[in-house]
Amino acid sequence: MKNNMSKNAIKFTYLSQEELIEAGAFNLKMAIEALHQGLVKFKDEQILFPEKIVQIFNEETQERINCLPATLLDEKICGVKWVSCFPPNPIRFGTQNLSAIIVLSNIINGYPVCVMDGTLCSNMRVAAMGATAADKLAREDAESIGFIGAGEQAKMHLIGMKAVRPGLKVCRVASKYAEEEHGFISGLQRIIPDMEFVACDTVLEKAIRDSDIIVTATSAQAPLLKADWIKKGAFYSHVGGWEDEYKVVQMADKIVCDDWNTVKHRTQTVSRCYKDGIINDSNIYANIIDIIDGTKMGRENDDEFIYFNAVGLAYADISIAYSMYRHAVNQGFGRELALQETMIFDKNLAGKIVF
Ligand SMILES: NC(=O)c1ccc[n+]([C@@H]2O[C@H](COP(=O)([O-])OP(=O)(O)OC[C@H]3O[C@@H](n4cnc5c(N)ncnc54)[C@H](O)[C@@H]3O)[C@@H](O)[C@H]2O)c1
Repeated sequence: MKNNMSKNAIKFTYLSQEELIEAGAFNLKMAIEALHQGLVKFKDEQILFPEKIVQIFNEETQERINCLPATLLDEKICGVKWVSCFPPNPIRFGTQNLSAIIVLSNIINGYPVCVMDGTLCSNMRVAAMGATAADKLAREDAESIGFIGAGEQAKMHLIGMKAVRPGLKVCRVASKYAEEEHGFISGLQRIIPDMEFVACDTVLEKAIRDSDIIVTATSAQAPLLKADWIKKGAFYSHVGGWEDEYKVVQMADKIVCDDWNTVKHRTQTVSRCYKDGIINDSNIYANIIDIIDGTKMGRENDDEFIYFNAVGLAYADISIAYSMYRHAVNQGFGRELALQETMIFDKNLAGKIVF
């Protein structure tokens, strides 16, 4: 009986965001490596990637909760990210926009392996994707970076960009509110002390003109970034929804996506251009994997303006989450929690059931 009881226990590891950070899993280089592996395996058809499920609660504000599954067949891991996006949160409650939880299960007996914070992983995935693209598509000698938006994705993007372009020296940031720009700077100055930070006092143009790398990461749905502000040879990572005028797309020498087939059905600026007939499939130069594996060239000269748009791929999140989980457990972190100790009818249920 005792053996049978322990055999039917279902236990998993729980990892909070704080535990992941203490374990050293806030590691952009590790995330970039896990992302590369995920992209390669997807191209090799070693990943299951079903459609995500979206539930929108407010069309105007786009408050939503999404369910994003993927399976890493080689690793025998099936995972899901359950992520909320509530753009009004910062103004309405003074709290963050996104929150996420990730569940990893094995596909040997199907039991859960880990339940972990997904916000850190999710934000790292966005930054790792932008950084991977910058590594291939930004000028090697890039020294300055300009941000429109000073929120969580913008902050993480700066860490990602610094991982692949350590020569970045100047960071200009413009947002809707000046205090957000100061919050961005005070948080990141401690982490990147050799960077010169410039708060642009909500003047978006000031952040962009003369920047070698441009990032828009806003919750706006408006053409904030203007084509006239963009320097020759710049690399642009577009993170949010509709954030730039169509002319920015039209002036790009190369448009690269995380996955064009996914991007084109969304509401990003390039997706809108596609739906409005401004661009077609032939205007998309490559998916990032084709540049990583050498099927397509990355940057070919110092003058190209290269536009990168990622909307997020669940298998990228699950690949990174699994590497974070393994790293944390190897470092001795994580609490084991029991979902059940025995099967339902192996318990002493007398007097505990209502029927
Ligand atoms: N591409 C992806 O894979 C991916 C993943 C996660 C989030 N996102 C998107 O990234 C965006 C940013 O997310 P976040 O978590 O950083 O949100 P956040 O709320 O932390 O930050 C949003 C920022 O946008 C700024 N902003 C809003 N309207 C503006 C305007 N009119 N002018 C200038 N700045 C403006 C805000 O002031 C704030 O600094 C959201 O649209 C989110 O949906 C994309």
